Amino acid sequence: MKFLKKVFYCAFGIISESICLRLQGDPGLCLQLPENRGLAEQIQIIKERRWIMVKKKSVIDFITMKKKGEQVAWITAYDYPTALFGEQAGMDMLLVGDSLGMLVMGYDSTIPVTMADCIAHCQSVRRGAPETWVIGDMPFGSYQTTDQEAVQNAVRFIKEAAVDCIKLEGGQRVAGRIRAITDAGILVMGHIGLTPQSSGQLGGFKAQGRDVNNAREVIRDALAVQEAGAFSLLIEAVPPEVTAFIARKLHIPVYSIGAGPCDGQLLISGDMLGQFKIFTPKFVKQYADVAGVTVEAFKAYISDVKNGLFPTDEHVYHISEPLEAFEKLFSEFDS
Ligand code: KIV
Repeated sequence: MKFLKKVFYCAFGIISESICLRLQGDPGLCLQLPENRGLAEQIQIIKERRWIMVKKKSVIDFITMKKKGEQVAWITAYDYPTALFGEQAGMDMLLVGDSLGMLVMGYDSTIPVTMADCIAHCQSVRRGAPETWVIGDMPFGSYQTTDQEAVQNAVRFIKEAAVDCIKLEGGQRVAGRIRAITDAGILVMGHIGLTPQSSGQLGGFKAQGRDVNNAREVIRDALAVQEAGAFSLLIEAVPPEVTAFIARKLHIPVYSIGAGPCDGQLLISGDMLGQFKIFTPKFVKQYADVAGVTVEAFKAYISDVKNGLFPTDEHVYHISEPLEAFEKLFSEFDS
């Protein structure tokens, strides 16, 4: 009997893994989630209501993709709708970057972003993209002090927000932290080159590795991150020649933001959507003008309201009993 049960579960697993069913026109957009439920339960409800049975990528898939030369495409996401659209579009990964400080919260840097901010945004993204690899970005101050604090905060990302891995900035100088977190059983993505949390030390938001001496440090950082046990590495704003060398040299996947071709590419969603226009780095390719479309829509709405063109009959709920009954009701209040 036990044996038969095993065979059944095994067959069920294989069948369900091979089914790849997505609803066109995602009903997730109008989901009303029950309150007072845990994140895991809410995600289960979202999955069931969407009928999604897509096999979620694992760390093995990313390593295989590197071996096969298949590119990984990913963006940042900070909220439920972006995560939903990202998953619908088929993004390989979503990064809940601490860039949320600028993109969402209106700060002028990532420095003020807290653990509470990051956890809350990771939870929203996880609810929107239950079948996508989600990366939680450790904010400034959450891993700089001690190994113990770094591990405790990394654990919070996994337990409270159900992310798949965490990312932290730095190479040789944070190798010990990466080791401590991986020893706790948590997957780590390294981040070297232009590291925004330490942009002060770098002399601003400047490309790194452009001269031989600086490139040597970037390469040493990359090797230190791999040696410390990270499963992948993100390189930011480094010349493509240096990135290509690192991607060849490392056996872990190497991804780029503004660092040229390697195993995959990341862009900040607000940059590529044309939503965040305060500062656009050279490496951004803009795929839409969401800011422009949004301002035009807001203007059209203001004009409609002011000119009595909204709401019209199609935008209201009609009474369900004869008008006379309502007139009688109104007269009760007239005396
Ligand atoms: O916070 C973020 O979005 C990042 C990218 C700049 C790589 O770390």
